[in-house]
Amino acid sequence: MQKTFFISTAIDYPSGIFHLGHAYEKIVTDTIARWKRLEGYDVYFSTGTDCHGLKIQRAAEKEGKEPAVFVEEISDMFKELCKVLNISYDDFIMTTENRHEKVVIEILKAIYEKGDIYEGEYEGKYCVDCETFYTEKDLVEGKCPVHKKEVENVKEKSYFFKMSKYQKKLVEDLQNNPNSLWPEKKRNEILNRLKEPLKDLTITREKVKWGIPLPFDKDLTIAVWVDALINYLSTVDYPNEKFKKYWSATHVIGSDIVWHHEVIWKTMLLSLGIKLPNVIVHGFINLKGEKLSKARGITVDPIKLAEEYSTDALRYFLLREIPFGQDGNFSEEALKERLNNELANELGNLVNRTIVMVEKYNNGKVPKGSTDKKLQKKLKLDKIEKHMTDFELHHAIAEIFSFAGACNQFINEKQPWKQEEKERNNTLYSLADSLKIISILISPFIPETSKKINKQLGVKAGLLKDCKFGLLKAETKVKKGEILFKKL
Ligand code: ME8
Repeated sequence: MQKTFFISTAIDYPSGIFHLGHAYEKIVTDTIARWKRLEGYDVYFSTGTDCHGLKIQRAAEKEGKEPAVFVEEISDMFKELCKVLNISYDDFIMTTENRHEKVVIEILKAIYEKGDIYEGEYEGKYCVDCETFYTEKDLVEGKCPVHKKEVENVKEKSYFFKMSKYQKKLVEDLQNNPNSLWPEKKRNEILNRLKEPLKDLTITREKVKWGIPLPFDKDLTIAVWVDALINYLSTVDYPNEKFKKYWSATHVIGSDIVWHHEVIWKTMLLSLGIKLPNVIVHGFINLKGEKLSKARGITVDPIKLAEEYSTDALRYFLLREIPFGQDGNFSEEALKERLNNELANELGNLVNRTIVMVEKYNNGKVPKGSTDKKLQKKLKLDKIEKHMTDFELHHAIAEIFSFAGACNQFINEKQPWKQEEKERNNTLYSLADSLKIISILISPFIPETSKKINKQLGVKAGLLKDCKFGLLKAETKVKKGEILFKKL
């Protein structure tokens, strides 16, 4: 039976238009999902929007719209973003959908019936942008540590989830399962915070109407975070066939929501007796050292960048420039430089030279030949695979491009235009054969480019198991296409 893999992004707040940070999360998750497909997995990839809560309610009011209409409109923009970025998701879930509300109610009832929810009163400081309560200790100069905005005092009737009951089990999982939370730095941070006793979690809001009513006290709504996290179960139709087929999960998230996923979500799953997922944390995209933020109005428009430089140039830049797991700065200058030097000069040139020579010397058909042994050794497939297993996406793509560089150097050394026919046939075969492999390997990173190369080479999309030299059939008909990347 085919192995399965379920991967998700966080679900975005449709409180306003997205920025490059949201695009980044989707691109890195898409790349991992596509790589897993390349490895032969049956992949299920979910994304979506987090539609309830005070932040959305207020944003809709400001626009003079019903929240339900407002979230539909903005979610459509997020879907459009996914389309522009070539995100190969299987499901886009909105937390306003019936299928989600049904699962949320089922889960809340199950935790309540288990005796893990009790009634009380909550008093605390609330940041609406985070949709999260903070203690005095968490605040920085009396303000939210993430948004640096005023917090609101809240005192209300509340239901609590016995998070503290699962602290020991959670710590054990973090200590014993190295894949539970990546990167290790984040794992250590959470383990450190878990040295303090966990408090129980308030899971309701009394005065917020835009939410799912609590099944056992309909005057209250379920807190946004509890509602939102359950999307990972509703997207796979918990507890039915799809859930059984694809669960466990790998959640890709940004570093501001690690606590919510690692502690809140996992303790909920421990209460439910559901297998714990793995969490992968990417860094923030900054602009001149400041985190892009909708709430703070620091933004870069990913659609404009994709239109100006192409989707694949944007994907390549983000994946290559920013060490995965760390924060990185966005700069248009750096994007242009990589587009010119790496995409146009290295990859584009290799494709162009190869196809042109096969057309010129061999009537557009791949000659019979065998791939140069020295060139074969330049492809470090084990290394690339290891980088992907270790989530070093930036190293993996760099290594693939290093092989493209080796192929260009091979042309310069062999000078096929000076070679005798038999030697030249081997050179051209080596190049076309290598290009076929490069095209497979780049497909998770820059899928459109891979498709264009395949078309020019006259081959079908392949899997990782097809990355072997000598599989390209002689006589394959190539055809020059448009330039892959125009230099700026
Ligand atoms: O947190 N760079 O939604 P959100 C990289 N609805 N990633 C960034 C970023 C940046 N500058 N800014 C935000 C929420 N992100 C919740 C999630 S999941 C059950 C609920 C990332 O719209 C952020 O870290 O504020 C998060 O992973 C995602 O974008 C959505 O952020």
